[in-house]
Amino acid sequence: MGRERESSGRPAEARTSYDHQVLDRLGAHVQAFIRRLVVVFLATADARGEADCSSRAGPPGFVAVLDLPSRRAARHAGGVPPAPAAVHHPVFARVFGRLAAAGERSGLAELRGRVLADTAGRVLEVGAGSGSNFAHYPPAVTQVVAVEPEPYLRGLAEQAARRAPVPVDVVDGVAEALPAGEGEFDTVVSTLVLCSVADQPRALRELHRVLRPGGRLVFWEHVRAERPPLTIVQDALDRTVWPVLCGGCHVGRDTATAITAAGFTMERLERHRLPDTRIPLPMAPHVLGTARRAEPAR
Ligand SMILES: C[S@@+](CC[C@H](N)C(=O)[O-])C[C@H]1O[C@@H](n2cnc3c(N)ncnc32)[C@H](O)[C@@H]1O
Repeated sequence: MGRERESSGRPAEARTSYDHQVLDRLGAHVQAFIRRLVVVFLATADARGEADCSSRAGPPGFVAVLDLPSRRAARHAGGVPPAPAAVHHPVFARVFGRLAAAGERSGLAELRGRVLADTAGRVLEVGAGSGSNFAHYPPAVTQVVAVEPEPYLRGLAEQAARRAPVPVDVVDGVAEALPAGEGEFDTVVSTLVLCSVADQPRALRELHRVLRPGGRLVFWEHVRAERPPLTIVQDALDRTVWPVLCGGCHVGRDTATAITAAGFTMERLERHRLPDTRIPLPMAPHVLGTARRAEPAR
C-alpha cells in the first residue's frame, strides 16, 4: 500500500474546470445504454432465480435495481429526498461477496485490523457488507450493531457474526435513517461504504447523531483523487458506468471533506494508494483515520 501523505483538516480540493455539462449529457446517454443492457441481463437472472427482487416494497424487480441515487435525487429536486427504503443489488452483492473473501486473503485483513484497533465500547458499523470487519474487533468492543441493507450481503454478515470474537447483531437499515437513538454509540465504523450511500451528507449527519458526544468515527474509504487527470477520469466514471456496475459506488467523492462538513473534528487522516500501481486506478486513492463528535461546551 502506497502511503502518500499524512495530514489533518485540509481544505477541500480545488475543482477542475472542464465542462461538466458535456460530461453530464454524455454520461446520461451512456447510462441509459448500460441500463438497457443490465435490464436484459437481470431479467434473465430473475428468470433463473438468481436475482430475487420480488420481496421488497416499491417498484418490483430489476426496475428498482436500476433506480440510481442520481435519478431519485432528480425526481425530488427542490425538496428533501426521502431516505432510501431499501438497497438491493443482487448481482453486485454476489460478485462482491466472492471478491471480498479473496481480498481478505490478499492483505486487506491486515489493514482492517489496523483500522479497527481504534474501536471500543458499543459500536455501530454501517454498511457491514459480508461482515469482513467482524473478525477484527478488539476485546475493548462490548457490542457491535451492524447495519446492512442489502439482503444477500446481510445473510453473509449474519454468518460472519456467529464466528466473531465479540457480540455482533446484524440488522436491516440504511445509513441515511439509522435504526438507532441519539448518542447511543461510543464508536461508529464506516469502511468502503460512504462511496455507495445514496445521500452522503445525510448519512454522515446520521453517523454524527448516533454517536455520543466525544465518541469516535472510524473510517476507511476510497475517495476523490487530489488532482487531475485522475479526478477527470473519476468524474466521467461516476456519471456513466461505475454506479450502475458497482452497486451505487462512486469513485470521485471527497469524503474526508464531507466528514468535517458534517460536524466531526478530524483527529487522524491518512492518505494511501491502494493498489499502489504506477498508473493509479480510479478507486486507488483511499483515506483512513478517525474523527470525533465534539463534547458539548461547558
Ligand atoms: C463495498 S461494500 C463494503 C462492505 C463492508 N463495509 C466492507 O468493508 O467490506 C458497500 C456496502 O455498503 C452498503 N450500502 C449501500 N448503500 C447503503 C446505504 N444507503 N446505507 C447503508 N449501507 C449501504 C452495501 O449494501 C454494501 O454492503
